[in-house]
Amino acid sequence: MDYAPHDLSPRERYKVLTGFVLPRPIAWVTTIGPTGVVNAAPFSFFNVFCEDPPLCMFASNLRPDGRVKDTVINIERTGVFVVNLTDEPLARAMHDSSGDFPPEIGEPDYLGLKLAPSTKVVVPRLADAPWAMECKTWKRIDINNRQLFMGEGIHFHIRDDLWDRDAMRVHMDRYHPVGRMFADRYCRTDDRIEFPAAPVVAGT
Ligand SMILES: Cc1cc2nc3c(=O)[nH]c(=O)nc-3n(C[C@H](O)[C@H](O)[C@H](O)COP(=O)(O)O)c2cc1C
Repeated sequence: MDYAPHDLSPRERYKVLTGFVLPRPIAWVTTIGPTGVVNAAPFSFFNVFCEDPPLCMFASNLRPDGRVKDTVINIERTGVFVVNLTDEPLARAMHDSSGDFPPEIGEPDYLGLKLAPSTKVVVPRLADAPWAMECKTWKRIDINNRQLFMGEGIHFHIRDDLWDRDAMRVHMDRYHPVGRMFADRYCRTDDRIEFPAAPVVAGT
C-alpha cells in the first residue's frame, strides 16, 4: 500500500502518521492564564531535539470546532511554559486533563493535582511529575493555523527518587513513563531490551 499525501484528507494523513509513529512521548504542558488560572494539557506531537541550548518542541492543532487551545493563548501572552513528563501513577490524570475545560477552570485544580512553584518562570510545574523543564519560547512557527512551539529549557526539575547523582543517570528501575499509541491508547515501557554495542565498520 502506498499513498501520495494529497490523495488523503488531513484526517486520513493524521491517522497514517500517528498510527505508525509511535509510541510518542507526551509533554504535559502547564501554562498560566491572565487571571492566574493554571492550565495543563498533554501534547504528543512532542520531543526534545537539541541540548546546546536545550530545546524541545510541541505542536498544537486547533480544536475540532476551530477554537485556539488555552495552552497556545497562554503561551502567546506570557512567552513561557513548563513541560512536565508523565509516569504510570499520573497517566490517568494526564489523559483526563485533555478534556474540554473552559479557560477559567484549571485542569490541575479540577483534577486535584499538586502544583509546585517554578524557579525562573511564573508558570507552576506539576509537583509529582518525574521531570519538568521550565521553558521560554525560543521560536513559534504557524503551520496552517497549527502552532509549533520550540521551547528553550531554562531550568530542569528531577524527582529525587529517580536520579543517581553520581552516575548522572536515571534509576530506570524506578522510572515508569508511558507513551502515546493512537487515539486513547497508551503503552507502558517496563518491558525493555538491551543490545551489545553496535559494530564499528572500517571503510575501504
Ligand atoms: C496523550 C494526548 C496527546 C495529545 N497530543 C496533542 C497534540 O500533540 N497536539 C494537539 O493539538 N492536541 C493534542 N492532544 C489534545 C489536547 O490535549 C487537548 O485538545 C486539550 O484539551 C488542550 O487543552 P487546552 O485548551 O487547555 O490547551 C492530546 C491529547 C492526549 C490525551
